[in-house]
Amino acid sequence: MQHIATHDRQLIFTPAIRIFHWLRALSILVLVITGFYIAWPFLVAPASTDVLVQGWIRFAHIIFGFLLTSITLVRFYLFFFSRINHERRSFKDVLSHRSWITQIKSYFWMGSLDKAGVYGPLQFMTYVAISFVALIMCITGLVLYANVYHLGIGGMLGDVSAWITGLCGGLAPLRIYHHYLTWAFIIFVMIHMYMAVWSGIRFKHNSVDSIVSGYDYHKVRK
Ligand code: HEM
Repeated sequence: MQHIATHDRQLIFTPAIRIFHWLRALSILVLVITGFYIAWPFLVAPASTDVLVQGWIRFAHIIFGFLLTSITLVRFYLFFFSRINHERRSFKDVLSHRSWITQIKSYFWMGSLDKAGVYGPLQFMTYVAISFVALIMCITGLVLYANVYHLGIGGMLGDVSAWITGLCGGLAPLRIYHHYLTWAFIIFVMIHMYMAVWSGIRFKHNSVDSIVSGYDYHKVRK
């Protein structure tokens, strides 16, 4: 039997981009949970000095904090130098006010979404914004770290940390900024997951699966 292809597929996310996406999702999940616990350690240790609940939670926060810091740096690099330029191409749409109108209209079921790259302009700018929030989280996180650990990386960051702490008006306000910005991730993740599922249904193409498999599918035009 002859097989007639109704869809063709296109690689839109390289393996590196997919792996970093899911590692970042995992680190954000762990950091939000452990971070809120650090802010309000509600589990009281039993009558023993050998129970380090807060210590272990803090340890996990720091491990995933360094993981997120590394991914944030690599991801900034990949945006500019990845061998696939679908992400970079989206910047063309950001500069065109027609593309903004097209995207916003398509969200209200008017017309289709024509994009130069893999993201619409609103989507692109949201990702740029959350990437910078991640950068600020990493910087403030490293400053909090350097204030407690004075050897190794902590020691290396000592001077610059003192300078950033001064800019924020002290360690307490810096810690509050680190805390408040946690909410940006919670709000982003909820909207992001909703939009990922919704856009697959709305535009009838691959959405959540493409960040797993890397491929998007398009109907073959006859
Ligand atoms: C999505 C990213 C992150 C989230 C959501 C997050 C969240 C939080 C929250 C809510 C706190 C508690 C603040 C408070 O006491 O009110 C905290 C503390 C802390 N965070 Fe993060 N964090 C993130 C990334 C990082 C990174 C990248 C590092 C750097 C390694 C880091 C290092 C720390 C440290 C050392 C503390 C402890 C502060 C203390 O014990 O007083 N965090 N984080």
